[in-house]
Amino acid sequence: ASGEEQSLRTPIVAVLGHVDHGKTSLLDRVRGSAVIEGEAGAITQHIGATAVPLETISEISGALVNPDDFDLPGLLFIDTPGHHSFSTLRARGGALADIAILVVDVNDGFQPQTLEAIDILKRTQTPFIVAANKVDTTPGWNPNENSPIQQSMEAQSDRAESRLNEALYEIIGQLSENDFSADMYWRVRDFQGNVGVVPVSAMTGEGVPDLLAVLMGLSQRYMKEAMAIDVTGPGAGTVLEVKDERGFGKTLDVVLYDGSVRTDDTIVVGGLNEPIVTQVRALLQPRPLAEIRTEKQFEKVPEVRAAAGVKIAAPDLDDAIAGAPVRVVRDQPVAEVVEEVQAE
Ligand code: GTP
Ligand code: MG
Repeated sequence: ASGEEQSLRTPIVAVLGHVDHGKTSLLDRVRGSAVIEGEAGAITQHIGATAVPLETISEISGALVNPDDFDLPGLLFIDTPGHHSFSTLRARGGALADIAILVVDVNDGFQPQTLEAIDILKRTQTPFIVAANKVDTTPGWNPNENSPIQQSMEAQSDRAESRLNEALYEIIGQLSENDFSADMYWRVRDFQGNVGVVPVSAMTGEGVPDLLAVLMGLSQRYMKEAMAIDVTGPGAGTVLEVKDERGFGKTLDVVLYDGSVRTDDTIVVGGLNEPIVTQVRALLQPRPLAEIRTEKQFEKVPEVRAAAGVKIAAPDLDDAIAGAPVRVVRDQPVAEVVEEVQAE
């Protein structure tokens, strides 16, 4: 890829859906991690962020993703909680998204937070695909570890295949009741007018190659222009969490969705009473494939470009709040940016 192409912004993919339908498990499958094991009762209680490089996507997707066909650097996944009490966090995750995966348990179908997620996606006009998860729980299912889903479906008994198809058509029907024309992803020609359904299993990895391939295809095809921003311009982001970090005091876990942030940059952060103006002391970047929520070995870097998860260390962050905007000040009067942050 040429220098210009490399400045394409990483698309942000929000993962939304009802509690326990398998959002974190799907991301664990992609990361090769076990974040779910650190969660009390396997309930996600915060928004997470994980950068997945194009090389990893093409490794997982095999023949379905040829890295030479893409000039996006990868995808930034945002994990959200499905438990009903975290609606603010779901809305926040949805607002950050360029594209989304709605995770639906094939056996459980649409549930209250599935509908809530659909409302968020409608409101924010975010294009999405549906991951019909847990296909391995279909009675009589014969697992094919990490296989593309059509191959795996063809290898099932007629009985298991038709049980799964029934469950999938149920989901397609529920989408249509909610005003979305939908079909199995391999039959969808126009992803702008139709929602693609991807049968997957976070447990066996079946369909995960397809899920990543569809996301990359959609991002490349429909969002390339939106991604062609100046990733070296002044950054903008959202605070996920305010956390103590040993040796740094209070720090901000941020999703940077625009531009860049550098060490020593002046930043404005939404605070309890008024915006905080401070200066970046250190930028701590999670390793590729690490979940920022659980990462322990951050790398200190001089600059971070959108989209990315980054921990920002700076003085005076005691009054910073989760959900607040973060803005980098460069070639603009500080007072102007403070006003903008106040208005957000
Ligand atoms: P919240 O974040 O709390 O909304 O839940 P979640 O959507 O992240 O679900 P999570 O990944 O925590 O999974 C919930 C349960 O379903 C766990 O016990 C997982 O092991 C199980 N699970 C997830 N995906 C699959 C799957 O594909 N097959 C099977 N059999 N179980 C799964
Ligand atoms: Mg979760």
